[in-house]
Amino acid sequence: MEKIVVEGGRRLEGTVAISGAKNAALPILISGILADGCSVYRNVPDLRDIRTVMALLKNLGVHVHTNGDVVEVDGASIKNHEAPYNLVKTMRASVLVLGPLLARLGKARVSLPGGCAIGARPVNLHLKGLKHMGADIRLEHGYIDAQADRLKGACIYFDIPTVTGTENLMMAAALAEGTTTLKNAAREPEVVALAETLTRMGARITGAGTPEIVISGAKALTPVTVDIIPDRIETGTFMIAAAVTGGDVLITGCKPKHLEAVIHKVRQAGVKVEIDPKGLHVVAGNGISSVDVKTLPYPGFPTDMQAQFMVLMCLADGLSVISETIFENRFIHVCELRRMGAEIKVSGNTAVVQGGRPLTGAPVMATDLRASASLILAGLAARGLTEISRVYHIDRGYEAIEKKLAALGARLWRTRESP
Ligand code: EPZ
Repeated sequence: MEKIVVEGGRRLEGTVAISGAKNAALPILISGILADGCSVYRNVPDLRDIRTVMALLKNLGVHVHTNGDVVEVDGASIKNHEAPYNLVKTMRASVLVLGPLLARLGKARVSLPGGCAIGARPVNLHLKGLKHMGADIRLEHGYIDAQADRLKGACIYFDIPTVTGTENLMMAAALAEGTTTLKNAAREPEVVALAETLTRMGARITGAGTPEIVISGAKALTPVTVDIIPDRIETGTFMIAAAVTGGDVLITGCKPKHLEAVIHKVRQAGVKVEIDPKGLHVVAGNGISSVDVKTLPYPGFPTDMQAQFMVLMCLADGLSVISETIFENRFIHVCELRRMGAEIKVSGNTAVVQGGRPLTGAPVMATDLRASASLILAGLAARGLTEISRVYHIDRGYEAIEKKLAALGARLWRTRESP
């Protein structure tokens, strides 16, 4: 396995370009299953999870061709309806093939996603919605076995606004007979991007981005060419990188509108954030103010930015309270930050950060994608060297992060972990 070594204390300055959004590309590439032809997706980030989803599609017999950041998916070639455990266990979002396979082939056999470091993350709401649409679903031997001659439109209420649950059912409904209404639906920009893609493929969808989405199914869907939206979480991560190093960074190719809650909180912490025609210009202020944050479904503060924001609060001038309302175990990074000198107390889903303690470099371990990003940020701010092990987590969701940070003046390198 590999680790990343970060030499702290260097100010970041310059320009960084944001890549395509992992969490938009995953469902949109999978939506290619729904069309009887070859769709073209551009600005696809080069990430481990994207390589996994392409392996998953190939395993279904779907022809996938890549050329740089362009990925072609030919839904006409689909042969198989099984998503095996060895692929699903490496990426939970594989469950997103369930709805499209049922809609396109009338059957699906998808491994149940197992546990996850940040929480149980069940898929019960996905399955409940598909059952409402007439699917016969059985769970055995760790697999979801689903059948449906033709899915029928239904009115589905989500107990919790689930992002991939909304996406799975939107894709299923796009080829179902009749109209489906999703209530208490997720409103994330990635959900809207998928809805726009399905609409261009021939589905009739209204309400995407609101809590109520109405989908009128089509008899068939046509292939499409799509540009993947920029990654709002990568954008937020680089905002924090600029702030924690006293830096001055222009973040280009991003959509500020997609991360208003993050911009608001970073500004509240005393960081100058200007919306520039090219993107976001982030300039660290004199000192960092403590700010309380509560993670919420979009448009609230995103849970995927919680760990990164906590690093900023470690450097702030007082006490801040961070509440994690989305996942039940998303403070794993706290133990690692404490090894670097952070003073953080956790009680249930609340972390109280006593800022102002200087961070010092230390050997730490990445445990999930966003926790690993927070450890890199802490390493950038710390005095001395930080060695982050199990960096395969970071490769899942950040394209060329070392190269992008080094271009801003950071000093970090990748090396093999000692056995
Ligand atoms: C998506 O995961 C993202 N992943 C996550 O990003 C993100 O953290 C999450 O949404 C929340 O914004 C992708 O889009 C690929 P949820 P998802 O279903 O869809 C509960 C990253 O770092 N729930 O919105 O799996 C669930 O346990 C990743 O890029 C059920 O109870 O999350 C959680 O508490 C991490 N039953 C809450 O809902 C269900 O059937 C929100 O989960 C589904 C979800």
